[in-house]
Amino acid sequence: MKDIKRKEAKIFMQVANRIPITIIRGKGAYVWDDKENRYLDFICGIATNLLGHADSGLAVAISKQAKKLVHISNIFYSEPQIALGEILLKSAKMDKIWFCNSGAEANEAAIKLARKWGKANKKGAYEILVAKNSFHGRTIATISATDNQNYKKDFEPLLEGFKFFEFNNIADIKKKTTKKTVAILLEPIQGEGGVVTPNQNYLNRVRTWCNKNNILLILDEIQTGMGRTGIAWAHQHNKIKPDILTTAKGLGGGLPIGGIMCTKEVDVFTPGDHGSTFGGNVLTCAGAYYVANKLFKTNMMKSIKGTSKILNNLLTELLQDNQDVVKLRGMGLLRGIELKENIAPQVAQRCINNGLLINPVRPNVLRIMPPLNVSTKQLKDAKKIIEKSIAEAIREEQNV
Ligand SMILES: Cc1ncc(COP(=O)(O)O)c(C=O)c1O
Repeated sequence: MKDIKRKEAKIFMQVANRIPITIIRGKGAYVWDDKENRYLDFICGIATNLLGHADSGLAVAISKQAKKLVHISNIFYSEPQIALGEILLKSAKMDKIWFCNSGAEANEAAIKLARKWGKANKKGAYEILVAKNSFHGRTIATISATDNQNYKKDFEPLLEGFKFFEFNNIADIKKKTTKKTVAILLEPIQGEGGVVTPNQNYLNRVRTWCNKNNILLILDEIQTGMGRTGIAWAHQHNKIKPDILTTAKGLGGGLPIGGIMCTKEVDVFTPGDHGSTFGGNVLTCAGAYYVANKLFKTNMMKSIKGTSKILNNLLTELLQDNQDVVKLRGMGLLRGIELKENIAPQVAQRCINNGLLINPVRPNVLRIMPPLNVSTKQLKDAKKIIEKSIAEAIREEQNV
């Protein structure tokens, strides 16, 4: 460890706060480090490895494609892009799609599309309302749309045209809306913000407000999409439809791919408006198609619903039996455990020592995002480790 840590510090720009573990291999929900220690992985590549690690079907899909063609660019037509596009559009009931390589790029494209739509359809309206406590990425446009001063303060001047509203407060959206408002950009559940779940009808009320005022609703489902919350797309819990939908993370089951979908009324892009050399790369599309096919064309979504219930029952037990846990957040297999004290980093460290990789997304919140095919036994094991780790962290706090 010391050696790799030293080398990394020497040659890498120090932007990542790495956990001092070198992961060598994985299988399903488990990973192994360079000393053959095994961990249950509930960080899951930051909510990306939907099928777990080293899924044999995904490996075959990637290697089959790699033997034919790795990259051709969007100068040509490509079959894997079409196959993936069709299955995603069907699952989200959207009309048009475009692929990129990450979540931030998907949101960048959404911002551009909304602005062009505003020019053509709303007298040049360009302002986008974004939620406080949001996270939409790390590019200049997406940090401008993100409410976290730590990510923004050293990079000013930022992109103008974003106004922030209180999440879960429809009155604040109404107050911030002007003639210049072209879109509302929103995460259905704020993932990086601490797995903040809105009130039941909030998204419906936002949708109604958008309809009434000719405002586009852009839903950032980069973290919540692809089955993560127990349904294909989180907004489908509310039976609404966005005008623009962004995806990434779980889309490629670990491969770097993002996408933007929209309705046909909103698709104002024409050739040259946007592009990416690697976006929609055949290799990542072939892999993502395998993942999407498994998710939407087998009984996997049904089993995720069952797994979500099991996780919910286990977490409810944790809440009931443990006075240091005060609230549960999230839905499906994207859950937050809110602790009474700001000891989530200490608990997460204890969990790692006890064989569970888990993410302290806020000082008082642990985030759980296992692979979508996690087993009941693995969920039960994780619960035991979390319980034990909370007790250890509390004891450690009290001894100091
Ligand atoms: C809701 C949301 N949007 C955008 C992003 C940025 O995605 P990426 O890191 O792939 O650029 C993230 C990443 O955590 C996210 O959770």
